[in-house]
Amino acid sequence: MGNGGGGGEGVILSGQVLSFRASPFDAPPAEAVALHEAVAMHNGRILATGTRAALRARFPGMPVEDHANRLISAGFVDAHVHYPQTAIIASWGKRLIDWLNTYTFPEEMRFGDPDYARAVSERYLDLTAAHGTTTMCSFCTIHPESVSAFFEAARARGQRVIAGKTCMDRNAPDGLRDDARSAHDDSLALLERWHGVDRLSYAITPRFSPTSSQAQLEALGALWAAHPDCLMQTHLSEQTDEIAWMRELWPGARDYLDTYEAHGLLGANGLYGHAIHLEPRERDRLAETGAAVVHCPTSNAFIGSGLFDMAGLVGRMRVGLATDTGGGSSFSMLRTMAAAYEIAQLRGAALHPAQLWWLATAGSARSLGQQDRIGNPVEGMEADLIAVDLASTPSIAQASARAGDIWEAVFPTIMMGDDRAIAQVWIGGRPQRV
Ligand code: GUN
Ligand code: ZN
Repeated sequence: MGNGGGGGEGVILSGQVLSFRASPFDAPPAEAVALHEAVAMHNGRILATGTRAALRARFPGMPVEDHANRLISAGFVDAHVHYPQTAIIASWGKRLIDWLNTYTFPEEMRFGDPDYARAVSERYLDLTAAHGTTTMCSFCTIHPESVSAFFEAARARGQRVIAGKTCMDRNAPDGLRDDARSAHDDSLALLERWHGVDRLSYAITPRFSPTSSQAQLEALGALWAAHPDCLMQTHLSEQTDEIAWMRELWPGARDYLDTYEAHGLLGANGLYGHAIHLEPRERDRLAETGAAVVHCPTSNAFIGSGLFDMAGLVGRMRVGLATDTGGGSSFSMLRTMAAAYEIAQLRGAALHPAQLWWLATAGSARSLGQQDRIGNPVEGMEADLIAVDLASTPSIAQASARAGDIWEAVFPTIMMGDDRAIAQVWIGGRPQRV
């Protein structure tokens, strides 16, 4: 494995090492961001950042790998994905409910076959590693096999991932429904099998309130109450047609969030994807309970869902950033940052590149409750890192050549970069083949 820092003697990487002292939504970028010449890692952990000379003096004999002026950052953290939708990414012409029925459900049906689930897990983790994503929080399918296949593939790579069995007991086709009891019992068995094993965590995962009965949401609420350290992930207020349908199905609910809240599915370890068309009460309750929402900008544009209110929400609650593969149209968190920038512009605010980079790393880690482990290369954190080429294509190179500071150098890669910008990836200190 070479001098990867996964074991043995460790390694010093030199380049432009980026870490965060604070959220750039809370402090000016110059205060929030620290740049260092080098980072040292050993046994899968970050030992220190600093000048090359200081780290060489502190860790004599440790090999130095020179990345010139590449940006060395925490690996990207994708806070909401559906790995089983890998093969149907970029499917044409539908809005949410039609898109689910036409493309998603038929594909998800295939994941009862463990060989297929394994093959797509491997493909998905290869693709995302090539794009610099080192942790993701994934929906699986209703099949327990789909969860175990994903966890086994991630575990073999030493990767920190969060995932759960997607529960649905109505408004889904034959072969893609569980029931209240089996959703609870299968989720519990998976949670007991996988939660806390190596770098794996289980997330209790009702798909969304239109595809769950009241009995199912209650059963999953009880499961969460018994295992409150698990995340609970679902979807919230993504598309106006979906909200109208939710209202027909849940006539007694005050609003969309209430369908979860009334069944014990609102709390600080709750993760609510999309959260676009929120009522004032929903914003207040999300903020009061300490819940996190996840912005999925390429998906929200691609499926035609709407414009997330970053400026209105980011000061009130934790916000993660996500591809939402395969409703999202890219595996790339760079492309996702670009879409977040564009959507904020459509709402009249320009997100600073430091804010975008924070959302894709430390901010997403915080939304997942993993901020003490991943998303920021400072001492003691896990060594999931990427080296980013800031001149990876002629278009980007000619724009970044004019840069007067680091953020002018990074922004063309945010807006135009893809997997070609990801020069190297380390997971748990081990270099990956990308
Ligand atoms: N709402 C319920 N299920 C899904 C899904 O798979 N993708 C998206 N984007 N929204 C959903
Ligand atoms: Zn989703």
